[in-house]
Amino acid sequence: MCGIIGVTGRSGVSRLLIDGLRSLEYRGYDSAGIAVQTEDGLTVLRRAGKLAELDAVVSELEPFGTVGIGHTRWATHGAPTERNAHPVVDGPERVAVIHNGIIENHEVLREELVATGVEFRSDTDTEILAHLVSRELAGGASLGQAVRTTAQRLEGSYAFAAISADHPGVLAVVRCQSPLILGVGDEASYLASDIPALLPHTKRVMSLDDGDVAVLTPGTITVTDVDGVEVERDVRTINWDPVQVQKGGYRHFMMKEIEEQPSAVSATIAQCLSEDAEHIRIPALDALGPRLETIKRITFVACGTSWHAGLAAKFYVENLCGIPVDVDYASEFRYRQMQAGPDHLIVPITQSGETLDTLTAVRQAKAAGSPIIAVVNVAESSADREADASVLTVAGPEIGVASTKAFTTQLVALYMLALDLASRRGALTREQLDERVQPLRRLRFAMEGALRHKEHVRRIAYHFSQARDFLFLGRGVNYPIALEGALKLKEISYIHAEGYPAGEMKHGPIALIDANMPVVVIATPGRVYDKVLANIQEVRSRDGQVIAVCAEGDERVRSQADHVLEVPVVDEDISGLVNVIPLQLLSYYIAERRGCDIDQPRNLAKSVTVE
Ligand code: AGP
Repeated sequence: MCGIIGVTGRSGVSRLLIDGLRSLEYRGYDSAGIAVQTEDGLTVLRRAGKLAELDAVVSELEPFGTVGIGHTRWATHGAPTERNAHPVVDGPERVAVIHNGIIENHEVLREELVATGVEFRSDTDTEILAHLVSRELAGGASLGQAVRTTAQRLEGSYAFAAISADHPGVLAVVRCQSPLILGVGDEASYLASDIPALLPHTKRVMSLDDGDVAVLTPGTITVTDVDGVEVERDVRTINWDPVQVQKGGYRHFMMKEIEEQPSAVSATIAQCLSEDAEHIRIPALDALGPRLETIKRITFVACGTSWHAGLAAKFYVENLCGIPVDVDYASEFRYRQMQAGPDHLIVPITQSGETLDTLTAVRQAKAAGSPIIAVVNVAESSADREADASVLTVAGPEIGVASTKAFTTQLVALYMLALDLASRRGALTREQLDERVQPLRRLRFAMEGALRHKEHVRRIAYHFSQARDFLFLGRGVNYPIALEGALKLKEISYIHAEGYPAGEMKHGPIALIDANMPVVVIATPGRVYDKVLANIQEVRSRDGQVIAVCAEGDERVRSQADHVLEVPVVDEDISGLVNVIPLQLLSYYIAERRGCDIDQPRNLAKSVTVE
């Protein structure tokens, strides 16, 4: 999704903008641009393609100024060309605008502007913003008023910022549903679509409500709400540090984040324990108060990898709490006849907290009276702010588009949520609950053990890097892990891959099996271990090549599979956190062998903030 950044009050602003856009590259984009307020007006530089193209021209021209905006565009309306890149300007080129989101009524507004003689120079929905702001300024409005009046004409989701050659030092921005965060400096002010762009400059951040307009000048931020009334918005200090958003010597963020999983999971466990670290305690459940007793069903709502975490959570909650659970794709849930209500707990699972499909589903369920507990990785994100309460995963910033540490921290947070819920509803005694703490503490070591097999996984990955199709099979709590392994491979290597319940193979997918179809099977100890071994036999008897994830030293599996990916053994319920690691590594190394863009796979964005 698009990345936006704005700065006022810093000299050499064009370099800051480029560096800020670089920290937002992971969001996915296909063109980029900056606009700087210079002594003779606005200097606007834009390029299609990667940021390096823009950086080259900025380095050459180095437009000097202290106010500027920058944008990486993930094309929605108009091809990914320089003509459609942001910042977009008005006719006289006195106003520049950057925008993240979709203006759904842009055609009507475009016709209205064309009828007044405005000539459009791009195919974007965004260009109407530059002309509307320009028209308001021409009528004597301040930049903040011009942005507000313009926003009142818009339908859709958007965060857009504007600068004007005639308003030195001023940045104005409005937010409606699309992600936006403000940075508070001593003598400078900042805006960005995500925290990593602000980290090198300030850790003091401010979130806006939908409809808020903020006017930024060097060192001051003035916010008015949807009615134009001046309001105070909280400033808080974030606990991420700039190092966390750097690669730290790794070739790719994805590998760094795969290896950060043991510590991220440990930090998330610590977050879900009582002060004395002896008892599992999820404060978010306190927020439900007496409503907790009346919950009759739970729906996990999510997209992509987070949806896979929801499938695992279904096993946790149904096994531990005895409450019926649904797991729904957010993009489907929101269009179904909403069954939400006070006794139906909705749990959105989202790393970014900004996935629009998930947010829209939450908003509809909330309006229907459902309590909302979010499992989210970014504090103060829209999902965190709109839920009744949140369980924050402590993965830290996840930059690689393919989710890894966010997934395993989601799994452990959901597992602990299920345990605490079971205890509060009397399905588990306090002693039974406390017995689960130790296996959780040992998870870190098992995950580190799985990572120690990296080199072995790399050799197998290279062997299969030219395969055209993969099948991933798992049963029970490892069925979602098979789905996740398939998604990882698809996302970063572009090889077609499907995840399936291993027991389902004989109902169709077995027709696909031949010597050219590698089949990854999760065969670690558990209730259905023997069934999985039988599935391995089914594949082998049809010349399929089996890559089995199994317990270290498991000779039964080793004798039946073509290749094994060994992992340390943990309790079956939490085995997914360990078993997913070789699958993440397999995908990473296959993609590396194929020369793919691992951190920014084609067509993908880190946070899908459009529908
Ligand atoms: C996972 O590797 C993908 N990047 C994608 O499926 C992602 O999980 C999905 O878009 C949901 O994102 P969220 O967790 O931020 O809501």
